[in-house]
Amino acid sequence: MLNMLVTGGCGFIGSNFIQYLLKESDFSGRVINVDKLTYAGNPENLMDIEKDLPGRYVFVKSDICHLEEVNRIFKEYSIDSVCHLAAESHVDRSIVRPDVFIRTNIIGTFNLLECTRTARDQLELFHHISTDEVFGSLGKDGLFTEETPYSPNSPYSASKASSDHLVRAYHKTYDLPVTISNCSNNYGPYQFPEKLIPLMILNAVEGKPLPVYGDGRNVRDWLFVRDHCTAIWTIMKQGKRGETYNIGGNTEMENIRIVEMICDILDEYKKGEGNQSRRELITFVKDRPGHDRRYAIDFNKIKDQLGWTPKESLESGLRKTIQWYLDNAEWVNRVKSGEYKSWIEEHYG
Ligand code: NAD
Ligand code: DAU
Repeated sequence: MLNMLVTGGCGFIGSNFIQYLLKESDFSGRVINVDKLTYAGNPENLMDIEKDLPGRYVFVKSDICHLEEVNRIFKEYSIDSVCHLAAESHVDRSIVRPDVFIRTNIIGTFNLLECTRTARDQLELFHHISTDEVFGSLGKDGLFTEETPYSPNSPYSASKASSDHLVRAYHKTYDLPVTISNCSNNYGPYQFPEKLIPLMILNAVEGKPLPVYGDGRNVRDWLFVRDHCTAIWTIMKQGKRGETYNIGGNTEMENIRIVEMICDILDEYKKGEGNQSRRELITFVKDRPGHDRRYAIDFNKIKDQLGWTPKESLESGLRKTIQWYLDNAEWVNRVKSGEYKSWIEEHYG
């Protein structure tokens, strides 16, 4: 893998992955990061890489839905491997504007597959990043395995399920060397503050209400983003072509408990206004339509076959994440005020 196309590299997981790949892993090639820079893409996350490692990193502002443009990129940079992260990723947005999700997550993935099919001879691997949400919702017991039937419930998860099927079909039909990973909820540095954990951290810091959907008893499995990055690279290096791997953090938790943990950690630093506990900011709000009740991941396959396990506990990962948001107030302000968008326009058009 000398010329790896990373799609969506300016997003939350993508920028963490590129940082990990180029600064910490044993990958010795070049990354070509293709990102459309939607509201969720911020090239500022990779400014140090652009400055410090110019020979090993190229950024191309482009839309994976433009087939000709993606074909050109494949040729120009002699792409020999792909890590496909670009997507519309937020469930609530998919309920309001499903069309955008269908376009990027399905048509965009299809385009990339078509390009790799054309460049088949030089392609070592197409790794597709997917989600545990494709499996639907669990009851009180049980875990998602790689054999769990797909049963997506939101436009987001249905679009991701569709893209997974396309990737699998291109392996079966065209013998394309693919791997797929289905991962649980990520958290950590650079996450856009619309997702549960960064939203709650920033609202709690500012003394704003903490909106918990429904009864707050929905369960998610939380994975620190760096652990996800090591899992992706492990699969890309050692994963069996044509296989899928579940990735989880071994940290099932009810939403309300996560929010309470965030409040308590922040209270340890400094109590809120009038010495108030931040738990008093918790506000139960109308539930998300089609809200999946419980996700939980069985990641024994990647553990037993490839030797990967998550390193971070929920407590240590949350502390690191909270500290990162407190230490990066300028990044937070630029993202929250929308100032990062004018900066992007100035630099990238
Ligand atoms: P994100 O929303 O933070 O970033 C997505 C990136 O894709 C952004 O940089 C955006 O500009 C880019 N993008 C969007 N549409 C594009 C297009 N048409 N062409 C090119 N670039 C485009 O998302 P994330 O949380 O980093 O998720 C990355 C991937 O991981 C997604 O495929 C998502 O489905 C999957 N995933 C996310 C999680 C999670 O908890 N965040 C968990 C499991 C799987
Ligand atoms: O499971 C993996 C998925 O995790 C990824 O595929 C998605 O890209 C990612 O966005 C995430 O989806 P969720 O819907 O689980 O994440 P979100 O952070 O939006 O919500 C987490 C839980 O918290 C969910 O049960 C809804 C709830 N929630 C969320 C928000 C934003 C609230 O109670 N209040 C909120 O304000």
